[in-house]
Amino acid sequence: MEKREQLYEGKAKKVYRTSEPGFFWLEYKDDATAFNGAKKAEITGKGALNNQISAIFLSLLKQKGIENHFVKTVSDTEQIVREVTIVPLEVVTRNIAAGSLAKRLGWEEGTPLSKPIVEWYYKNDELGDPILNDDHVAVLNIAVREELNHIKEISLRVNDVLKEYLAGRKVILVDFKLEFGKTPEGQLILADEISPDTCRFWDANTMEKLDKDRFRRDLGNVEEAYREILRRLGGQENV
Ligand code: TMP
Ligand code: ASP
Repeated sequence: MEKREQLYEGKAKKVYRTSEPGFFWLEYKDDATAFNGAKKAEITGKGALNNQISAIFLSLLKQKGIENHFVKTVSDTEQIVREVTIVPLEVVTRNIAAGSLAKRLGWEEGTPLSKPIVEWYYKNDELGDPILNDDHVAVLNIAVREELNHIKEISLRVNDVLKEYLAGRKVILVDFKLEFGKTPEGQLILADEISPDTCRFWDANTMEKLDKDRFRRDLGNVEEAYREILRRLGGQENV
């Protein structure tokens, strides 16, 4: 399979066409942004770390029967994925109050939730990704009720799989963001990435943050935290 022209450039990845219909070529970048792009930096090695971490998570989910776009890794920073059209929703699942939920409810960060919360945000940079309810999603024609139910069910299954897997590696899964896409045949599958850019990971012993909050909140050692996650997942550390 060959890499062809660039189709799209996002804040953290580029998407290319390939020589084979039905497949895209993803390139993970070192660029980091926060607060809807207001804060920017380059974190050397982030692209390679997220490429590998995301491949590990998406392969695990596939093994557990959760269909997703990941096909194979082709270089340090690149992977082949199935062609999908991304549904413009950021689907956030939370186990512990943190970030925007802690702020909205006035709860202390670290407060456990009595059950996981799944939230929808409109993937729209101009609007700053506003939170949506089911009716907004329907009126905006983003997804029909059955699709939304499916997305919620898959998100909760992903939560169960990742929470247990990470607990065995002494990492607490606080919350995470997923995206879904439609294949050319119309199948709705999990897509995008699962990495320290899109999840909150806390060390189970020290509660140290091992994710992008280190960048958002200027805590330092961002790359080291991502590398620690890869090490706990048993990935190759020479990236
Ligand atoms: P939040 O608490 O800021 O709403 O973030 C919830 C989760 O979603 C957290 O794990 C980080 C992730 N996230 C993204 O992946 N992209 C984003 O643009 C935002 C705001 C959060
Ligand atoms: N995706 C957000 C941004 O672009 C960042 C975040 O994860 O907070 O700037």
